[in-house]
Amino acid sequence: METDIRRTHTCGDLRVEDCGRDVTLMGWAASVRDHGGRLFLVLRDRYGVTQVTVAPDRAPDLAACVRDLKAESVVLVRGTVVDRGANRNPRLPTGDIEVEAREVVVLNSSKPLPFPIADSVDALEVTRLKYRYLDLRRAPLARNLVTRALATRIAREYLDSQGFLEIETPILLKSTPEGARDFLVPSRVHPGSFYALPQSPQTLKQVLMVAGMDRYYQVARCFRDEDLRADRQPEFTQIDLEMSFATPELVQEVTEGLLVALWRGVLGVEVARPFPRIPYREAMERYGSDRPDLRFGLALETVTDVLAGSSFQVFSGAARSGGAVVALRVPGGGAPVGGGQAGGAGQDWSRKDVDALTTVATDNGARGLVWLKVREDDWQGPAAKFLSAEERGALRARTGAVPGDLLLLVADGRADTARVALGAVRLAVGERLGLRDPGRHAFAWVTDFPMFEWDEAGGRPAAMHHPFTSPVPEDLDFLESDPLRVRARAYDVVLNGVELGGGSIRIHRRDVQQRVFRALGLSEDTAQARFGFLLEALEYGAPPHGGLALGLDRIVMLLCGARSIREVIAFPKTTSAACLMTQSPSEVDAAQLAELHLEVRNP
Ligand code: AMO
Repeated sequence: METDIRRTHTCGDLRVEDCGRDVTLMGWAASVRDHGGRLFLVLRDRYGVTQVTVAPDRAPDLAACVRDLKAESVVLVRGTVVDRGANRNPRLPTGDIEVEAREVVVLNSSKPLPFPIADSVDALEVTRLKYRYLDLRRAPLARNLVTRALATRIAREYLDSQGFLEIETPILLKSTPEGARDFLVPSRVHPGSFYALPQSPQTLKQVLMVAGMDRYYQVARCFRDEDLRADRQPEFTQIDLEMSFATPELVQEVTEGLLVALWRGVLGVEVARPFPRIPYREAMERYGSDRPDLRFGLALETVTDVLAGSSFQVFSGAARSGGAVVALRVPGGGAPVGGGQAGGAGQDWSRKDVDALTTVATDNGARGLVWLKVREDDWQGPAAKFLSAEERGALRARTGAVPGDLLLLVADGRADTARVALGAVRLAVGERLGLRDPGRHAFAWVTDFPMFEWDEAGGRPAAMHHPFTSPVPEDLDFLESDPLRVRARAYDVVLNGVELGGGSIRIHRRDVQQRVFRALGLSEDTAQARFGFLLEALEYGAPPHGGLALGLDRIVMLLCGARSIREVIAFPKTTSAACLMTQSPSEVDAAQLAELHLEVRNP
């Protein structure tokens, strides 16, 4: 006879009020303990754990069955809820009770596990990804998925309450440039033609504004073939939104409302509004990053003018070639030896500490890192002897350094290269000093981005956001004459050094869009072939509009305190874009390829 698998409760439900009830639970056998006179089986499902007991003297067959249970077998238990009395476990929501089993049925047994289902495991990530269904049984990962579902629900509720309409857009689409390579899908019906998976729904959400939808949002899957790292996956999810008649302030207000609702709803944290605004240039100059971690100060100082005449070639050379020398002051980092434990605030940083920071600088584009330990007279560090008394005085004045401080400097012929490298050093110093407190939530807007950046490889300007971003109207005249001077009506929202989202006011006039395409080096024909639909739509009464997209995976990562977005995605890919569980990507049959008019040429 088939087992009746209707359960009365989950493994997280039962409380002391349920004592005396006859219940049916189902779950995984998390552990079995044999205390001689009594057997304890811990049953687990995603709602919690419940302790089940069997008395071997009263039920020897049941006891034998429980003793033989393989870990992680799926088990049905029928029995009575009883009070644990003196043995209550206050750490568990179900810790006041246990279920005295009358019947135990093994619904499915489990093979020996590749790693234990425990809160912390030392299995390799490749093993965990291969057996993702086991990894997801572990409470921390299961909790992350619950938080993700909650965050998504809060976002939907908030946007619904603001009059946004959820609209789906296609996955089989045309190239949508967001600066990465496209994933292509060959068409069977149209030989030699391809769909591109959307890098974002950018062009379609703009067309929806032309269609009069006024306020759109979507929990949108995006696909980008780019180099992966802890906060990047080849497919990821955006909370994507667009508004007609939008100003940057309006988009920012809605976004802040959404983020505040998320932090309140998930963490119970009240985030202060409005978020501070920091212009892109200032973010680069002060923090060496367009996504500054504002939980702590340690701002960079530009000291190019101070060291332009230095006899130290590294400094004067950078100044001569139009670059910059930038400095970071580590308060107390150069205290005389004996001043305390190495590497802390107010304590001497050892040679090894400084070497580690040099590696951070060179990994981030610098040619080296110069360190100076500030003293009343006798400064220390390889470059100290090149500095005149005036230069030392000016360096102190500019950076605020006092004897006992450590100064870290990067010089480069390209100012932003020096800043980005020292910005990475700043983060490493902040980490080392314990200033990157996970309990703080330093949201900010980065504004006033340039429209274009110089693309070395292409030898021309490239869009800093995307080509549909509106230039600041006053700068339109420079589009042809001096494109790098054009500012964009773009904004990013950042939290604790992570870019959470980006957006802009869009171009809503065909002539302006065409001028921007031209500035990017897109020929009329190419622009027409790729974006003809958008150019045409702009001619049929396109309202002024703008929007933004938030990275849902990154938001959930930060809400969960996870180190990688892989920890908050059910089935993530490795850094080489593979799914270890399904073994994708994989080869396909020759017949399938032929149908798609493709052939694989062996290298
Ligand atoms: P953008 O390219 O800045 O803008 O993307 C918006 C946000 O999406 C997240 N994100 C990613 N998350 C995980 N893995 C990735 N590979 C990845 N790439 C981006 C980030 C980022 O801030 N269409 C525009 C938005 C707009 O203008 O409205 C866009 O996609 O959190």
